Amino acid sequence: MTSLRSGISRRHFLGGSLSAAVAGLATTSLPQKVKAQEPVFASPLAALKPPETLDEAYWWKIRSQFNIQDGLTFMNTGTFGPPPRVVLDEHIKIQRELSEDPRNNYRSSELHDHKAVLAEFFGADTDEVAYMRSTTEGMNNFAHGIDFRAGDEVLMCSHEHPGGYGAYQALERRVGIKIHYIDLPIIPESPEQVVELYERAITPKTRAIVVSHITFITGLLTPVKELSEMAHRRGLLISVDGAHPPGMIDVNFHDIGCDHYAAAGQKWLLAGTGTGLAFFKREVQDEILPLMGADGHEEDGEWVLHEDASRYEHCGQRHISSALGIKTAVEFQKTIGKANIETRVRELATRLQNGLTEIPGVRLQTCVDPHLGAGLTHFSVADVPMNNVRQGIMDLGRIHIRTSSRGDVSGCRASTHFYNMPEEIDELLRCVRHIAEHSADYM
Ligand SMILES: Cc1ncc(COP(=O)(O)O)c(C=O)c1O
Repeated sequence: MTSLRSGISRRHFLGGSLSAAVAGLATTSLPQKVKAQEPVFASPLAALKPPETLDEAYWWKIRSQFNIQDGLTFMNTGTFGPPPRVVLDEHIKIQRELSEDPRNNYRSSELHDHKAVLAEFFGADTDEVAYMRSTTEGMNNFAHGIDFRAGDEVLMCSHEHPGGYGAYQALERRVGIKIHYIDLPIIPESPEQVVELYERAITPKTRAIVVSHITFITGLLTPVKELSEMAHRRGLLISVDGAHPPGMIDVNFHDIGCDHYAAAGQKWLLAGTGTGLAFFKREVQDEILPLMGADGHEEDGEWVLHEDASRYEHCGQRHISSALGIKTAVEFQKTIGKANIETRVRELATRLQNGLTEIPGVRLQTCVDPHLGAGLTHFSVADVPMNNVRQGIMDLGRIHIRTSSRGDVSGCRASTHFYNMPEEIDELLRCVRHIAEHSADYM
């Protein structure tokens, strides 16, 4: 079915200032590239059920469900994850239906019915889940829904993403709230230390904690369950930016216990562009006003908000195929199994992180402790500028990663999802080792 093949001609990818450095690798064997082009059509989900013991053959079968170009290694799921064929097929099918019979273009009852599947997958009640078009939309919906007063404080760490903190910056200008940023250690000692740092920063004016479940810079896995317990003990709201964990690790909103959780669909859940979800705990829904007008209905001549989290969904005509496709993405992941996915993601990340720590000159800036890290890995190579490392890796191995930086952290970030293969990790390590050994050529 699937096999490794010799790498494509590297000459094709040479060019720019790094060519000479890349040429230094020309005497070594061409990289083995991953090939997974069969089958061309999506397999039925029943055919993707995992065997009792998971082996590499099974993961090759899963990899074969993706259309990623032969010879391209994609390790930036943290920005956008390629939807598997079953999701792509669903999008195409719905677009075709809309073009053939445009009458039922809202598909409201299907969207509603799908929520039961999504809620069950993420440990919520159906009435607590709202469709969103992105994490950013989910974060904004909560932030702008709070009845903030001038002087109120919001606590967050300095590694939050603009999608999460942007709304609060707007509220600083418009309402006069204040964001109180704390610096967490790049490699915290323990989850308890993280919780303690947040708790110590609370003041009498703090109203809410805003926290990434996994930060986008270094991939720090934040102890959001413990933070939620602490926040509630201190009478605060807690909103979780969950752009990364859903689809990467086993996420359960009720178990976390937060008031709000905004999830991306287009990243690790592999649901495609323009997709997301948000969890609004039942108990906070009357406190948090919807951002975009209000989704509601008429009752005795009065306009009333919907009783559930769908009140937050008002956004004009939704991209129906994307929204309906979220359920297919969830079913794909359910078939593989949440626990199997998390285990595989962690195995691949551990392989990468262990390999990086063995390369002289490489600095790993992600926690290897499984309580504080998962599928994002951040590293830098000696003093080589991060963009040169990223480009060097592309030139050497046709591997796509991204850079990420904030304050004194700057480097490259690799996302290793379950569709990545150990061979791809090893190839990335080979490229990083080459750059570290020839760092002067990449300055
Ligand atoms: C932690 C974090 N929050 C929010 C976002 C924004 O995500 P979206 O494009 O789904 O709004 C990102 C995007 O990478 C992110 O990494």
